[in-house]
Parts: sequence; structure tokens; C-alpha cells
Amino acid sequence: MWGKGTNNFLGSILVALWLLWGVNALGNFLIPPVEPAESHGGTEMAAATAGPKGAPEPVEPLPIRLASADIEKGKTVAKKCVSCHTFEKGQANKVGPNLFDVYGGPHAHAQGFAYSDAMKKKDGPWSAEDLEAFLTKPATYAPGTKMAFAGLSSGSERAAVIKYLNSLSDAPKPLPQ
Ligand code: HEC
Repeated sequence: MWGKGTNNFLGSILVALWLLWGVNALGNFLIPPVEPAESHGGTEMAAATAGPKGAPEPVEPLPIRLASADIEKGKTVAKKCVSCHTFEKGQANKVGPNLFDVYGGPHAHAQGFAYSDAMKKKDGPWSAEDLEAFLTKPATYAPGTKMAFAGLSSGSERAAVIKYLNSLSDAPKPLPQ
């Protein structure tokens, strides 16, 4: 099978490769390839659109997110919480406390729940900003918290769930404008 035909075949491949290389070299000689660095406008635009690597998505201010947040969406997001929390009035505490009326109430608001010291020693009412910080990363907001939950990384999900928590009250308190 390694007869004359094969040699001719291999030979024609070599010729083809040589021709390709030759044409390419000739082309580069006649029209030098443009280096990206030479076109200043181009590199600036690339830098503007790329953004810093690994940086989190820019998040709109909380009042703006709350204004467009949807309570029903918050209820859906809260499915991530129902393994530990109940939300309706009078329901029992589970792994976590019942969350009815938590918005605007004191930290560690639920009767009969054994809160961590980290939660008990937090002063002031649960404002939207506090909930935003806690739900972003519970362990950062309250180091030592018993809430074993990584956090909600999406700003719009946090706003929706905060609006939902706000609605869980006989007399909902105003949201920040
Ligand atoms: C793995 C169980 C678990 C999950 C999931 C969880 N939590 Fe919790 N949560 C807890 C526990 C336990 C506490 C009590 C924290 C402490 O005492 O430090 C708590 C406390 C809270 C508090 C403070 C209540 C108060 O009375 O001060 C809020 C608000 C809250 N959780 C909201 C949420 C929301 C919203 C979600 C879902 C997005 C969620 N949690 C998911 C277990 C959980």
C-alpha cells in the first residue's frame, strides 16, 4: 500500500501546506496584521465594557429595589426559608423562629425561641437595611448566629423577601423611600 500513489498523495499535501504558508507569509508582508494595542479607541472600549474580574453585579440602592419589588415574588423566594421558618400569625417556631411581624420588631422578636447570644445582643428594630445586611450574609451580620443559611446573593430577591416580610403584619410599617 506504500506505493507510488501514496508518495504522490503525501507529496501533494506537502505542496499544499507549503503553498498555504507561502501565501500567508506573502499576505502578512503586503498587509501587516494590525495589533490590537495600536488601535487606542478599541482598547479603551474593551476596558470599559469588561469591568473588574469577579466583582459582584452592581446592586441598586435598597429603596429603589423595594419600590419595584413584588410581594408574591418574595413569597416564592421565601420557599428557601420554609425548612426552618413559619411566616403566618400564630404558627409555631421551627429550627428558626416564626417570622410574622418581624419587620420593625426587635431582634430576637419571637416568643419562646432560643436565640443565639449574637442575635439577642443586637439592638434596635429590624429595619429594611438590617434585614438586607442579615439576608446577604447572616454570619457576617451576626457572627455566631444560629441561622445556618449562606445568604441570598441576588439583590432583587432580597428586596422581594423584605417586602414580603414587611407585609406579614396586622399593621405593616412603612418601607424606606
Ligand atoms: C437552616 C435553617 C434556616 C434557614 C434556611 C433560614 N433561617 Fe432564618 N433563622 C434561622 C435560625 C436558627 C434563626 C435564629 C438565629 C439566631 O438566634 O442567631 C433565624 C433567624 C432569622 C431572622 C431573625 C428573626 C428574629 O426574630 O430576630 C430572620 C429575619 C430570618 N431568620 C429570616 C430568614 C429568611 C428570610 C430566610 C430565607 C431567605 C431564612 N431566614 C432562612 C434558621 C434559618
